Amino acid sequence: MAPYGDSTFWSRKRTVSPWGAVSVAKRRLLIVKTQRKIIVYIATSADGYIARPDGDVEWLNRRPHTVDYGMREFYRKIDTILWGRKTYDWLLNYSKKTGKTKGLFDTKLANYVFSRKPPRRAVPGVEFVSEPVKAFAQRLRATSGKQIWMMGGGELIASFLDAGEIDEFDIHVVPVFIGTGIPLIAPRHRDVPLRLLGSRKYPDGVVRLRYKVPR
Ligand SMILES: NC(=O)c1ccc[n+]([C@@H]2O[C@H](COP(=O)([O-])OP(=O)(O)OC[C@H]3O[C@@H](n4cnc5c(N)ncnc54)[C@H](OP(=O)(O)O)[C@@H]3O)[C@@H](O)[C@H]2O)c1
Repeated sequence: MAPYGDSTFWSRKRTVSPWGAVSVAKRRLLIVKTQRKIIVYIATSADGYIARPDGDVEWLNRRPHTVDYGMREFYRKIDTILWGRKTYDWLLNYSKKTGKTKGLFDTKLANYVFSRKPPRRAVPGVEFVSEPVKAFAQRLRATSGKQIWMMGGGELIASFLDAGEIDEFDIHVVPVFIGTGIPLIAPRHRDVPLRLLGSRKYPDGVVRLRYKVPR
């Protein structure tokens, strides 16, 4: 269930059904009315990294587990998660190390892992995708459903951004510098203006920045 295991940044207080007590009729209405968006919902260090060079996110997981950072609300709005293969592998390795192998991927949601060389088998609840990003995203958006969580990492975010298939960034800036690491977006020449949708400061110093990517 928790994308980064039970003890980690994103996992707290998130065990409710995405639909809660909403009636079936209202769900249908909400789905029809909602334009599906692909939203990067992520945490970065204050110097712009999502992990250390070896993938380590201990600097993230050691945060005090007292704040939800809007995750519960966000999780109610999504029904699909997009993963980069390296993030998928990282999660599998992390779960082996910690012994928490159950419920890694929420099987009530669609979990797509992008890879150009997908393995023969995936863990339950996960589907590998090798289709070009643009075609996949357009097909996904054309189906009815809720919002789509772009989990990352930085290489997959770059692929979607450069294909014009990211709608919003919801970035949680953690008050720590880690010096070097995997950037939020894999670097290449870009000039992408953003529109600030909102910002919020949390008591522990995390700042949430919501940007729209004009498409
Ligand atoms: N701080 C956070 O909130 C957060 C969130 C997510 C991830 N992370 C961290 O980010 C790290 C991984 O990030 P990363 O940037 O190195 O890798 P990544 O984006 O997770 O995965 C990269 C891989 O995705 C596949 N891929 C990317 N673009 C593709 C495309 N256009 N078509 C098909 N496949 C594509 C390729 O897989 P193949 O090589 O198999 O072809 C590529 O090697 C992990 O350590 C993870 O813990 C942190």
